Amino acid sequence: MSESSTLSLNNEVVMPALGFGVFQTPPDETRAAVSAALAAGYRLIDTAAAYGNERQVGEAIAASGLERSDVFVETKIWISDYGYDRTLHGFEKSARKLGLDQLDLLILHQALPSDFDKTLEAYRALETLLADGKVRAIGVSNFMVDHLRSLLDHANVVPAVNQIEVHPYFSQPGLQTTNAEHGILTQAWSPIGGITFYRDGQHTSTLQDPVIGEIAQAHGKSPAQVMLRWHLQQGRSAIPKSTNPQRIGENFDVFDFDLSTDELARIDALDTGRRGGPEPEAITLASFGRDIPED
Ligand code: A2P
Repeated sequence: MSESSTLSLNNEVVMPALGFGVFQTPPDETRAAVSAALAAGYRLIDTAAAYGNERQVGEAIAASGLERSDVFVETKIWISDYGYDRTLHGFEKSARKLGLDQLDLLILHQALPSDFDKTLEAYRALETLLADGKVRAIGVSNFMVDHLRSLLDHANVVPAVNQIEVHPYFSQPGLQTTNAEHGILTQAWSPIGGITFYRDGQHTSTLQDPVIGEIAQAHGKSPAQVMLRWHLQQGRSAIPKSTNPQRIGENFDVFDFDLSTDELARIDALDTGRRGGPEPEAITLASFGRDIPED
């Protein structure tokens, strides 16, 4: 194995590189999925206020019997809770649902490009939470290069993480470089390309890609495992989602093989430059705002 399975954030906090995601996992399936992930060995769980399943994530962690310090818990503040006081309260809501006093990583879910002052106020609240020891690290998600520059012009704390869409069909090399230049760790959402992805009007999937399939066959591994290996060997954190216990285990079984430099380059070359998820520049409160419940 060519690299550690943990990553040091820019404030020295140590985070597992490979985590478990619960985006679009229905609340009534979340507890079982997170329990299966913890049993399989995952120690990083990524959720979000907007996913509506923080309570069930917290229940699974509590039921696992693991020490609190052995599980790294990450969640996200939704745009409707931006603004200094609202974001402080957003933390309280998430912490209460998760059943935790302290969160390991709290990030802003999106930039609000048309109301960037509100985004800055939200980030200032994260800085306060960090200074008060309520969170161990802070960061952002879906921030593009211009959003990062505007944030860094005002912030006191450089984000530890920028969680962005990265999979072989949309790998954002320029944004990854900008993250790295500032000491911001790139964390990949939809790391195996599970996001519905269209190319030339056709739904297409990285899981069926012939290049990835060929590399997988050469290593006796699955396409998902090859993609996760690609992230880990390039120094990213990745948070694959699954509700299927067999696939949850498969996605964690990626520490016994190495891709060659040539194989990594062949996967890099699959980038289409077209995202599967929403355009970060187009996120507005009018189109994406929604109330995050108290409980
Ligand atoms: P399921 O929950 O039924 O396993 P991503 O995190 O990249 O967005 O991918 C998540 C999607 O990929 C989900 O639809 C998930 O479905 C599916 N998935 C997760 N792991 C695997 C795997 N190892 N092989 C194939 N599909 C997978």
